Amino acid sequence: MLGIETSCDETAAAVVEDGFLVRANIIASQADLHHKFGGVVPEVASRRHLEVINPVLQEALTEAGIGFQDLHGVCVTYGPGLAGSLLVGLMAAKTVAFALDIPLIGVNHLEAHIFANFLVEPNLPFPLLCLVVSGGHTDLILISRYGDYRLLGRTRDDAAGEVFDKVARVMGLGYPGGPPIERLSRDGNPTAVTFPRAYLEEDSYDFSFSGLKTAVINYLEKARRAGREINPADVAAGFQQAVVDVLVDKTMAAARVHRPARILLAGGVAANRTLARELKRRAAAEGFEVTVPPPVFCTDNAAMVACAGYYRYLRGEFSSLNLNAAAGLALDCS
Ligand code: KG4
Ligand code: ZN
Repeated sequence: MLGIETSCDETAAAVVEDGFLVRANIIASQADLHHKFGGVVPEVASRRHLEVINPVLQEALTEAGIGFQDLHGVCVTYGPGLAGSLLVGLMAAKTVAFALDIPLIGVNHLEAHIFANFLVEPNLPFPLLCLVVSGGHTDLILISRYGDYRLLGRTRDDAAGEVFDKVARVMGLGYPGGPPIERLSRDGNPTAVTFPRAYLEEDSYDFSFSGLKTAVINYLEKARRAGREINPADVAAGFQQAVVDVLVDKTMAAARVHRPARILLAGGVAANRTLARELKRRAAAEGFEVTVPPPVFCTDNAAMVACAGYYRYLRGEFSSLNLNAAAGLALDCS
């Protein structure tokens, strides 16, 4: 199975056999292009996707040691994401599917993030409780079987990854913000500066991170005006701990009620080692097991797309060659 992913600023292609054997996983990141803007510039992103999509596809096949004629299907992210970026991957996927007369399988980017866990462990036991934390989403999802999603909670304002990116920008750490904040936090004391944690109503599995973001910005601004030196590592560690605490507390609250057979982490922020460690520790104390994909399968990649598409392929859920990009696509939840 060939997977193609171009929803944001990574041009990625992967070859995955039987839904879990990753034969090639090529990711051309544009982070360096967008770094100076502190975020992704859509026009710049789609132009770069166009430039690199063909070489990336070729590299994936070469690395897997196969030719186009060996493929059984093409899986591609068709949303959510940047319209102009999605279209580049879609056009490439449709071309391959049409030329080889093999099935085209449109994949929801969020479902792909969740399925990164099936790359690690194909026979995950249901029901699953998955915390999806990316640049655009913070969703707590209960999965009773393949394709059956129930949204328990979501962010009411900024996504977890988005606050990492915004805080990193005001701290002058560039884009994407997660990795430098995580690195800086290692030298900081997470209790030196405490930032607010928003839990919303009792029993709510929703999240809110805008208050935390504002608190960090205000803290930095106040220090600047007073000419007071700050310790960036302590600020980063205090901020990261506030995000992690809320994410883990809410996930554990949902686990106690819904008793999943496994807890999953997914999305770019799942690459954060403090989050993974803390969730595993807290879950183990209450008898739950946690699966976290390795970082390369947490951030955007095409192996997870090929994996999610594989399970749709098995069910014969093919897309038409008229499949269009759906920038605002939501996960089909009950
Ligand atoms: O899933 P992803 O690659 O793209 C989207 O679908 O949005 O997630 C990207 C987000 C960015 O906001 C980035 O800062 C965050 O994931 N991220 C991290 C880490 N690595 C990436 N956040 C915290 N810690 C990390 N190590
Ligand atoms: Zn993503």
